[in-house]
Amino acid sequence: MGDLGGLRRRLPYLADLGVDAVWITPWYPSPMADGGYDVADYRDIDPRFGTLADADALLAEAHALGLRVIVDLVANHTSEQHPWFAAALAAGPGSPERERYFFRDGRAGGAEPPNDWVSAFGGGAWTRVTEPDGHPGQWYLHLFAPQQPDLDWSTPQVADEFDAILRFWFDRGIDGVRVDAAPAMAKAPGLPDAGHAPGAAFESRNWVGNPHWDVDAVHDILRRWRRIGDSYGGDRLFVTEAVVNGPERLSRYVRPDEMHTTFNFDYLTSPWDAAALRQVVDSTLAALEPVGAPATWVFSSHDETRHVTRFGRAWTGAAFGGAALPASETDLELGLRRARAAALLTLALPGSAYVYQGEELGLPEVEDLPEEALQDPTWERSGRTVRGRDGCRVPLPWEGDRPPFGFTTGAATWLPQPAGWARLTAAAQHDDPGSTLSLYRAALRLRRRLRGTGMSWRDAPEGVLAFDRGPRFRCVVNLAAEPVDLAGQGEVLLASGPCGAELPADTAVWLAPGG
Ligand code: GLC
Repeated sequence: MGDLGGLRRRLPYLADLGVDAVWITPWYPSPMADGGYDVADYRDIDPRFGTLADADALLAEAHALGLRVIVDLVANHTSEQHPWFAAALAAGPGSPERERYFFRDGRAGGAEPPNDWVSAFGGGAWTRVTEPDGHPGQWYLHLFAPQQPDLDWSTPQVADEFDAILRFWFDRGIDGVRVDAAPAMAKAPGLPDAGHAPGAAFESRNWVGNPHWDVDAVHDILRRWRRIGDSYGGDRLFVTEAVVNGPERLSRYVRPDEMHTTFNFDYLTSPWDAAALRQVVDSTLAALEPVGAPATWVFSSHDETRHVTRFGRAWTGAAFGGAALPASETDLELGLRRARAAALLTLALPGSAYVYQGEELGLPEVEDLPEEALQDPTWERSGRTVRGRDGCRVPLPWEGDRPPFGFTTGAATWLPQPAGWARLTAAAQHDDPGSTLSLYRAALRLRRRLRGTGMSWRDAPEGVLAFDRGPRFRCVVNLAAEPVDLAGQGEVLLASGPCGAELPADTAVWLAPGG
């Protein structure tokens, strides 16, 4: 699966790649019902990954290399194996132990869930428990899998506990926190129906005024956390995962006394289309400007179909876990060409850019994992119709000519790597100037000179995005079908593919305007 020892060994790779920081998805003890996003103990490391001493060593070694470390905080829900949940089940209805979660009596004499809320992984958001006396009893809320019971953040003990957890990790030297599922953390009082039809999809980007998503009280929690972060000298960073209805709602998460940054799902899910991307960039910057927060940009994550694959399909946008994507043929050569151009777009935009592990190697989604290997709860909860997110989580190929490509000394990785990844290993790409790894390394270095410069669009033919960052840097991305003339635009600093006087389709270039 990968562990902290392995991550420590590869820190020099990250430093060489040229990133400033690494975000680590949950490393806490967990039964892994949802890739570690079901936490059983917030103050330890899962033994599969290592120990607290390993985490301390990782922090020290990362800092020595100039890398910062951001850890994931999953505060909307715990694991069902967290001691609090076990205590709540044992204590029974009406107990203070149950007040840390949402336990409610069912409707229709107890047989129906307390309301119509739905789970992000499909199906309803409530599960009925068997009471200590052996009878079917109350229901508990889980906006994600049943193994992830939601915490009730209006209970003071919950908020106090997370204050202490944040301090625990800041005291150990972490540099920042990625806040998981931030909009879920507050619920409308009384838990009213949301108006979801039975079997409704979890469409948080379309919800307005929803009682279990993006409820205003979320911001009280974020302000509380910001005060704690600031008490550590002012350079600890928060980034939220907030999939909400449009940039204006998103900007509320990064008001001056809340989080510093937030992931930008409008960009991540945008199709490979010049007008759509320009609209996302403009609306993002316009919404964030009044609150003074920097934008963030990324096209892939541990929750989305890798963009090399998406960009090689008829429909190039993304949907959480690939749930609602229409099936179509994939042209991986086209996808990679576009993904390389997308890297130069993303890394030229003002604000923070994220690189999802392996995108710097041009990895595609693994679409043919054997069914018995699938781990994502989406697979079972969708009645084995939606495969979920495992295809983007297959471990990196480091070196060698066959799996496990140096990832493990064991026989195989937890999700099997395709044999065809031999030509995509980090070792195979490292010294090849034309490789995707070399492109990312060069771009991440050049990008440093963009700090502090604003962005201004330039006139460009339809399907072409062109903008300057200050007087000495220009980015041109051709998303049209025809080549575009680059004559007189300046000296080429970096290109995502072969280009001369003309910029071919699905290619991007960074230029130093002349004169
Ligand atoms: C976030 C995580 C995702 C996880 C979910 C529940 O969306 O990115 O991986 O399944 O929260 O914690």
